[in-house]
Amino acid sequence: MVQVHRNGEIFGDGRGRAARGGRTVLVAGGAGFVGSHLCDALLAQGHRVLCVDSFLTGSHANIQPLLNHPAFRLIEADICHLNDIDEPIDQIYNLACAASPPQYQADPMHTMMTCVQGTGNLLRLAEVNGASLLQASTSEVYGDPEEHPQREEYRGNVSCTGPRACYDEGKRAAEALCFDLYRAGRVDARVARIFNTYGPRMQPDDGRIVSNLVVQALSGDALTIYGSGEQTRSFCFVSDLVRGLIALMNVDPNPGQPVNLGNPGEFTINELAEMVVSMVRCAGEIVYRPLPQDDPQRRRPDITRAEALLGWSPTVPLAEGLRKTIDWFETFLTETKDRRRPKTGPARESEHRTTPVPVGA
Ligand SMILES: NC(=O)c1ccc[n+]([C@@H]2O[C@H](COP(=O)([O-])OP(=O)(O)OC[C@H]3O[C@@H](n4cnc5c(N)ncnc54)[C@H](O)[C@@H]3O)[C@@H](O)[C@H]2O)c1
Repeated sequence: MVQVHRNGEIFGDGRGRAARGGRTVLVAGGAGFVGSHLCDALLAQGHRVLCVDSFLTGSHANIQPLLNHPAFRLIEADICHLNDIDEPIDQIYNLACAASPPQYQADPMHTMMTCVQGTGNLLRLAEVNGASLLQASTSEVYGDPEEHPQREEYRGNVSCTGPRACYDEGKRAAEALCFDLYRAGRVDARVARIFNTYGPRMQPDDGRIVSNLVVQALSGDALTIYGSGEQTRSFCFVSDLVRGLIALMNVDPNPGQPVNLGNPGEFTINELAEMVVSMVRCAGEIVYRPLPQDDPQRRRPDITRAEALLGWSPTVPLAEGLRKTIDWFETFLTETKDRRRPKTGPARESEHRTTPVPVGA
């Protein structure tokens, strides 16, 4: 394999190849919420996109419009068992992993193995191809943080035995793998620590706070809040995140350290619920439920590093992003209802009723 030296680092020739035209970019988890938006953006930039997904939590609908795109290829596979791809690759984004607590806790061992075995497989693929790899890590590596806002230097407060550990510790292990291979000069690995992201194509029943509240409000149900609602989160609109991921993948030199990507605006869950109620114009009844174990109390990214190294900061205010998300869910729910409606007779009133599930991620 040809190797090039850049700023004292030795990596493969993926970038050289890429410089000669559109890149071939593998997006693991490309049929998911964030991954499908990333596929859209990469195709719009003229790259070839290989979407690898097992459809564990992703959906065919997310990538349906891309299936006839000449530069898009879908490879249905679990990254835990992915050893090779039959064409050269320049860049790999690893977004493959269930991201909401009910989904990643449904099969905790698979979640952990996806993070460790799956990321290991993609790192080997990156090494063989001389490709850069961006790992989608998470603010969950900070656990229930004792430092606020969270800077990348903060080492976190994570339980390694609790119900969130399969995800939090899995993502921490994946970061360790990335930096081991980066230090060894074997893979141009980059790590984004993603904070709560929301937008169109979230699954209506995935148990994340924004989708939960929006779907409940649009369905005329009571809104479920876990705990007092005074815990905080920072919400980043998906287009801002995708721009940040692409910037981190392409910045030269490799930062060689994790980079927080999130919106530093901090809101309590009660404030978020109030915004949703006023934008949907629903009755706004709220039901409070017990807080799930290890649920973080405060979340806000310090994005100084992303601003300095990538020139990146989010631009979509919460009200604007929520408007787009609510509009998308409104259409989605109507279309789903139309598809389910019996050929004769009216639709059942309860069709959009949602089962509340603990939120987080
Ligand atoms: N959305 C957020 O708020 C957020 C926050 C922090 C980190 N992240 C990270 O970003 C990534 C994408 O998150 P998302 O919100 O789009 O979640 P998502 O569940 O919508 O997408 C994950 C995708 O990965 C696929 N997948 C899961 N396990 C797989 C496996 N073993 N092999 C192949 N495919 C697999 C799923 O089918 C799905 O399409 C995840 O790695 C997540 O940990 C997301």
